[in-house]
Amino acid sequence: MAPKVLVTGSAGQIGAELVPYLRQRYGNDRVVAAVHKAQGSPLLKAGPVEVLEVSDSSALDRIVKKYAIDTIYHLAAVLSATGENNPQLAWQINMDGLRNVLEVARTDGVPKVFWPSSIGVFGPDAPRRMAPQAAALNPTTMYGVTKVAGELLCSYYFLKYGLDVRCLRYPGLISSEAPPGGGTTDYAVEIFYAALEKGRYACFLREDTVLPMMYMPDALRATVRLMEAPRADVRLHSGYNLAAISFSAGEIAAEIAKRVPGFSVTYSPDSRQKIADSWPMSIDDSEARRDWGWIHEYDLAKMASDMLAKLGRRMGGDGKTFNP
Ligand code: SER
Repeated sequence: MAPKVLVTGSAGQIGAELVPYLRQRYGNDRVVAAVHKAQGSPLLKAGPVEVLEVSDSSALDRIVKKYAIDTIYHLAAVLSATGENNPQLAWQINMDGLRNVLEVARTDGVPKVFWPSSIGVFGPDAPRRMAPQAAALNPTTMYGVTKVAGELLCSYYFLKYGLDVRCLRYPGLISSEAPPGGGTTDYAVEIFYAALEKGRYACFLREDTVLPMMYMPDALRATVRLMEAPRADVRLHSGYNLAAISFSAGEIAAEIAKRVPGFSVTYSPDSRQKIADSWPMSIDDSEARRDWGWIHEYDLAKMASDMLAKLGRRMGGDGKTFNP
């Protein structure tokens, strides 16, 4: 029997794609999209939609009971750059929201929860290359602090109550469908829109900044693969390192310029550079690959081609004005 799913943060960067993906897999009616304001994308209307503030645990409890939810994907969160601008808000949304979801899952008997962790758990003392699963977690951003505390809380609910919480430390995610908001890795999405709209981009990170990244179709597959893995295969209930590609801002710019002739980029690092510099350039996800068979599909070239083709079509082109 397919699960009965609730997704919080459904209008966000991951949710906007995960909800249609899950609905295609499990059926439209089996996936409830929770949005924080009554402004979710029209795409979400293919199935049930609820307005929900994750700080309101009685509303959450009501929705869980109304739809007999047995799996929650709790995606509502504030990203790293927004978190540095408003650390109190980041703590409130990221921590109170997670605590409410875990508590409602425990008291209502929801057996399974997914929660997104991040490369933001690492700090400047973690190895810069291939940061291992068990690296010290000493982040210097409030976003990272909430992700480390959140991983510990998820692990606690597993150990204390047997709640089957599963988490991934996502790298920067690149999506052709939903724009990110308030993250440090957002440049890797903005650069594609700028290339097609203006032929130039002013990057807020240095040209040599290397970060771990992943194309959204890979992230969706990883998420569902982890959630559908037999319980015995999932050894970690804090956050699995997850990786696909690492590249510098200059390398993605060059990859786009091969396909969009004349594309040019200038580099003016802002406060987000400090955040990027505190994160590893690549991470070692061999435990995810070993435990539940994770394999990524998209490298930099394949991702760039697909992004340009999809965005080009959406912007009204025929996909032939450049060479994906
Ligand atoms: N993409 C996130 C950010 O930049 C990191 O998880 O904040």
